[in-house]
Amino acid sequence: MLIDAFDRKIDYIRLSVTDRCDFRCVYCMSEDMTFMPRAQVLSLEELTEIGTAFVELGVSKIRITGGEPLVRKGVTQVFEQLGQLPLKELTLTTNGSQLPKYAAALKAAGVKRINISLDTLDPIKFRELTRTGELQQVLDGIKAAQDVGFERIKLNAVILKNRNAAEVPDLVQFVLDNQLDISFIEEMPLGSIVEHSRALEFCSSADLREIIGQKFILEPLQAQTAGPSRYWQVPGYNSRIGFISPHSENFCASCNRVRVSAEGKLLLCLGNEHAADLKAILRAHPGDRERLKAAIVQAITIKPERHHFDLNSEPQIVRFMSSTGG
Ligand code: GTP
Ligand code: 5AD
Ligand code: SF4
Repeated sequence: MLIDAFDRKIDYIRLSVTDRCDFRCVYCMSEDMTFMPRAQVLSLEELTEIGTAFVELGVSKIRITGGEPLVRKGVTQVFEQLGQLPLKELTLTTNGSQLPKYAAALKAAGVKRINISLDTLDPIKFRELTRTGELQQVLDGIKAAQDVGFERIKLNAVILKNRNAAEVPDLVQFVLDNQLDISFIEEMPLGSIVEHSRALEFCSSADLREIIGQKFILEPLQAQTAGPSRYWQVPGYNSRIGFISPHSENFCASCNRVRVSAEGKLLLCLGNEHAADLKAILRAHPGDRERLKAAIVQAITIKPERHHFDLNSEPQIVRFMSSTGG
């Protein structure tokens, strides 16, 4: 069992399989993003080896992230192999664009839940926010996931005050109408972007609940999940309406997770640079799982207590969300 210095049990990893993406969301990437050279990215076998080592150390939930995980060539192999491990949950966070192609294979591989990023239902704003995406691709992706039987699909919406905050009631109506859940996310300052001021675009979860409250009744849910989202419900509907509030309601005390980047860095906290280079160990000592596990156990001892995001200074974290794994 992995326990950190603050007595938190780490039983959840977010494993990034690529830093690449077919979209270029304005809060996630810079316009001229350069990606990791392929040789630096973990092979499919290395990804499975890392997942297996964590499971042997007591991890029971793996979420596959990116970049956009489904643009990685051969990615279904990773789902199939991780799907054989004794996990409570194998899950995926995706932008949805490739789900029409992959939803059935993901279901067959044992993926339990899918989170799909969708910030707006307006096709023009969608293109502006993603720079390259088409709204219809994602709507088709959601439908494809529902058609193959995925339940409790959750949307993630990053809300920027002057770009999509006014459309939040439309997103709420959409999830109620389509039996989906949603989390609204306060933007985090990872990587330097030029298009907007993160401070001026900040929209707190409390402000959002006020906007939603003008159209819907929101009641806090009694049964919360272990993740950072705090959920509410509209009476008469099954959908969960969540708020992820890294700025306004810190959730680090109950953190149960670490991340592995596509280049094999074990990132101990989304908002800190503390990390261990698992790829170096894998490549210097191929097949030596005990050594890999010892390095992981050691790294967990330096997991920081919490993130400290400051929207009013230059971002302290230079890596973008796309190379962090969400
Ligand atoms: P479950 O835990 O499976 O319910 O999902 P989730 O909501 O944690 O996962 P998802 O991939 O949908 O994450 C949504 C967003 O929550 C991430 O992209 C981050 O923006 C934020 N988030 C998740 N975990 C953390 C964390 O440990 N720290 C911070 N600061 N943000 C997080
Ligand atoms: N702040 C908050 N969330 C972000 N995401 C990407 N970049 C940021 C950011 N800077 C979200 C995406 C996706 C999830 C993996 O991370 O919208 O839903
Ligand atoms: Fe791609 Fe997701 Fe980042 Fe958008 S938020 S660029 S879809 S990885």
